[in-house]
Amino acid sequence: MCGIVGHLGPQNSVESVIEGLKRLEYRGYDSAGVSFVDETNHLKVFKKTGKIENLQKILEEQNISARSCIGHTRWATHGEVNDTNSHPHSKNELSLVHNGIIENASELRDGLLKKGYEFNSKTDSEVFLALVVDHVENGFELIDAIIATYKIVKGHSAFVILNGKTGEIFAIKSGAPLVCGINTVSSEVLVSSDPYALAGMVDKIYFPEDKVLCHLSVGNTNLLNFYELDKEKSKRYLSKKQDMVHDPADKGDFEHFMLKEIHEQPELIRSLTQFYFQGEGRDSLEKARQMDFSKVHITACGTAYYAGLVVRDYLEKFNKISCSPELASEFRYREPLIKPNELGLFISQSGETADTLAAQALCKEAGLKTLSLVNVEGSTLFRDCTENLLIRAGVEIGVASTKAFTQQVLTGRIFSASLNEEFQNESFKVEMTKKFALLAQRVDELLARSEEIKEVAESIYNYEGFFFTGRGVYFPVALEGALKLKEIAYVHAEGYAAGELKHGPIALIDEQKVNIAIVGPELFEKALSNVQEIKARKGVIVTIGPRGNKEAEELSDYYIPLDFEGLDELSPLYVNVVNQLLSYYMAKFKGTDIDKPRNLAKSVTVE
Ligand code: AGP
Repeated sequence: MCGIVGHLGPQNSVESVIEGLKRLEYRGYDSAGVSFVDETNHLKVFKKTGKIENLQKILEEQNISARSCIGHTRWATHGEVNDTNSHPHSKNELSLVHNGIIENASELRDGLLKKGYEFNSKTDSEVFLALVVDHVENGFELIDAIIATYKIVKGHSAFVILNGKTGEIFAIKSGAPLVCGINTVSSEVLVSSDPYALAGMVDKIYFPEDKVLCHLSVGNTNLLNFYELDKEKSKRYLSKKQDMVHDPADKGDFEHFMLKEIHEQPELIRSLTQFYFQGEGRDSLEKARQMDFSKVHITACGTAYYAGLVVRDYLEKFNKISCSPELASEFRYREPLIKPNELGLFISQSGETADTLAAQALCKEAGLKTLSLVNVEGSTLFRDCTENLLIRAGVEIGVASTKAFTQQVLTGRIFSASLNEEFQNESFKVEMTKKFALLAQRVDELLARSEEIKEVAESIYNYEGFFFTGRGVYFPVALEGALKLKEIAYVHAEGYAAGELKHGPIALIDEQKVNIAIVGPELFEKALSNVQEIKARKGVIVTIGPRGNKEAEELSDYYIPLDFEGLDELSPLYVNVVNQLLSYYMAKFKGTDIDKPRNLAKSVTVE
């Protein structure tokens, strides 16, 4: 997913855009660039493959004073990684940055080539700019040229265009994230593909809907306007106080965002029940609770999908509601059997994952009510769903999701609890708050044992392959643990239902394979017998199991004892923190880029 930032203000536009782009580094990118109107009112463009620092070095050599600038960090989809294909693209004093994919780019490009248009890059993005230029050359006003072009292109995108002659900036989206912000004190107006880029720079933030043209203008007092495609003023946007903070020393004492976010979990766990039982979350929980449905379709991607598997267990066990969790990328294409009296439940940290958004649109189209468990308020998923439950994970920078998984599951547990009559009793809420607090305490205690887990990681990180196995509620945790290790340590790891190993995968077990066996209180004996199967085949065994269980300990090469008492249905989250730490330390020993793993983006807004 590419990063977009635009700035208009009395000064320091390039510096503001670079600052915003640096906050989007966590998404992953392969080049960066800016275009701006200099003090002689000419458009200047600087773009460079590699890190933003490469671009900054070039900019520092220029004596720049600009009041209008757009910038981009590219995660290449069309066109190889090189300076020419980097954004911004420019022509005739117009400049463009783009996030998304133009699905009909090649046919549009052919049409323009026939008209003699000369392209510089191999990107689909440049086609949008070329069409705008073509319309302007045929007499269109710029705003009309942008609207006409927007109507022609297909696919999920956000476009930001800078008019080098006036310094004004236009922005419009279709299915990709776009936010605007105003700093009413300093009269600055900004646009971005991610609210986090604007944290601390604006005091009010706006989330325009699709087909709403945002106009950031200079000079007059009205810095930000929204228009429908017929150029009538639009009211189709959500606005709120910008409460995201950006602390430059973000990582604090931690070496990586991922480790910091693992350590944030106890506090986030403790505050979630307060938010929903006594705080601002009560209304949204009540609205979700009032929804009437006979069955739940849970769809999500990656880690969020694994959280959905745990939430399914809660809804079926505590509410006797039939649930079918599915990968959004599969659900959206298989013509699922869904009925209007059923609920679509969508789990997402970013609220911008293309497959999850498509699954939500499918359910909405079929007349289902839709509910999100989402982290980013104002995200596309948040705006598209009937109701929303915020997971309150704070900004998650590490590409490998940690605290978001925990908060997704716990918010799902609170939703499940709210559906039961006993939820109306204060005593029930008190007991649940205590259980959440116990989980937080156990995670705190576990984090204090990080050195012990680091030692296990150091002993196993060089093995060839890894199985994470679990039964029942621990199976989703096995899947999530394997994903973490794949994502950040680049080693082959499989999450497997422990009872399934003997149906084939056990053929893989040998001295070069490590099995991380989750042996929690549920189905304990069964899970232990699976460990014995691996032992018999000389696999290396790391067991995460109950403290003091001699049998399990003697079977294992490495034993990580846990205190499960009192956690009950929350124990998968306790075990999961062990896997988060194991993968973190194994990646550290392997020397990979933990916060920005290769090939990955924090939010996959394209299919
Ligand atoms: C998790 O560590 C990964 N970064 C990835 O699987 C992620 O969970 C998935 O892309 C879904 O993202 P979302 O929660 O923002 O929808």
